[in-house]
Amino acid sequence: MILGIESSCDETAAAVVRGGREVLANVVASQMTLHANYGGVVPELASREHLRNIVPVVRAAMAEAGIEFGELDAIAVTEGPGLAGALLVGITYAKALALGLGKLLIGVNHLEGHIHAVLMGEKQEAEKSRSGQGRLLALVVSGGHTHLYLCEQVDGVWRYRNVGKTVDDAAGEAFDKAAKLLGLGYPGGPWMDELAKHGDPRAVEFRFQPIKRRDRSGEAPATFDFSFSGIKTAVLRHIETHGMRAAAEARRATLGTVLKERPGLRASEALKEAPELFDRATLDLIASFQSAVVGNLLKQTFRAAEASGAGGIVVSGGVAANSELRRRFTAEAERRGLDVAFPTLAMSTDNAAMIAAAAFGKFAAGAFAGDELGATPQLRLG
Ligand code: KG4
Ligand code: ZN
Repeated sequence: MILGIESSCDETAAAVVRGGREVLANVVASQMTLHANYGGVVPELASREHLRNIVPVVRAAMAEAGIEFGELDAIAVTEGPGLAGALLVGITYAKALALGLGKLLIGVNHLEGHIHAVLMGEKQEAEKSRSGQGRLLALVVSGGHTHLYLCEQVDGVWRYRNVGKTVDDAAGEAFDKAAKLLGLGYPGGPWMDELAKHGDPRAVEFRFQPIKRRDRSGEAPATFDFSFSGIKTAVLRHIETHGMRAAAEARRATLGTVLKERPGLRASEALKEAPELFDRATLDLIASFQSAVVGNLLKQTFRAAEASGAGGIVVSGGVAANSELRRRFTAEAERRGLDVAFPTLAMSTDNAAMIAAAAFGKFAAGAFAGDELGATPQLRLG
């Protein structure tokens, strides 16, 4: 029975998971509406909110699970990557709790957590891999990451090899930045997803240039890299050259006012209530942007899967909630006879159940953290 704690970005989360799979409680306090006022996560505000939320969130998770602290076997916490001040709140609290209760402490890489958000629901995949039959290729795609990992279980312990990553922006960041340019709500991904359904994905052509390698470090470069900063600039250029700027500014002003009153407003509701805000050219641009980004993620992921002989694909992180991504990855996997798995929607975004699930293998392997556990903002996996 593991208590997981996650505070790497803008969600304060705690969960209780039994046996690495059975979620007894999964509580998330999101700071989304707070940061929406600034159009992005403000690190200082995030730390303060984590401080405010950490105790009630852990208490709520314990109450929901219906267990006492004494019944826990270990406490797992995200050690990185993430915002230093935000990570420190979760780590300091987890360490104090472990010390006070005399419990074992486990440090978890946030990216490994995202992969386990899928694996914990995929009994067959995990078992296939455990028996050595299956290597998995994981795409972790969120606001901060676009990484490809080759995952394999060796003697019960998961091993990861990074085979691709973004050289600039993450895919979720590109969604958010394009949405911001178009005057949509924050975070932009869900807005783009819902609005893209109403546009023509072939209206605007976006190209992805081959990625130039930087060999300064001397290490062998990853083979399946991504780059998403170019498409953001292309969206900006399209807005400027197609006279779409005034409409975007008007949309920003109107939606900004409405969202202050109704922070939870969804794009589909906004479209229904004020269709005049979403002209054809904008909807087409959104659909084309999403189609291009998803197409690029799909191409690189399946190329990497093929090259590495992976039998299955796992997609995780906030962008894994994207409906076009799910549809196209599922169709392509079927075409190639590969398995593909996604987390449930609740497990795609940051949560602590995935941290507790990732900790389970470490618990079994005796990989515990000591007093020295600290925040590692740039922590890598693989
Ligand atoms: O994993 P996550 O909650 O936090 C990070 O670790 O970044 O991912 C958040 C990201 C944001 O960029 C958000 O816009 C994006 O995931 N996102 C989506 C969708 N839902 C969330 N992007 C595209 N389509 C969606 N439906
Ligand atoms: Zn995340």
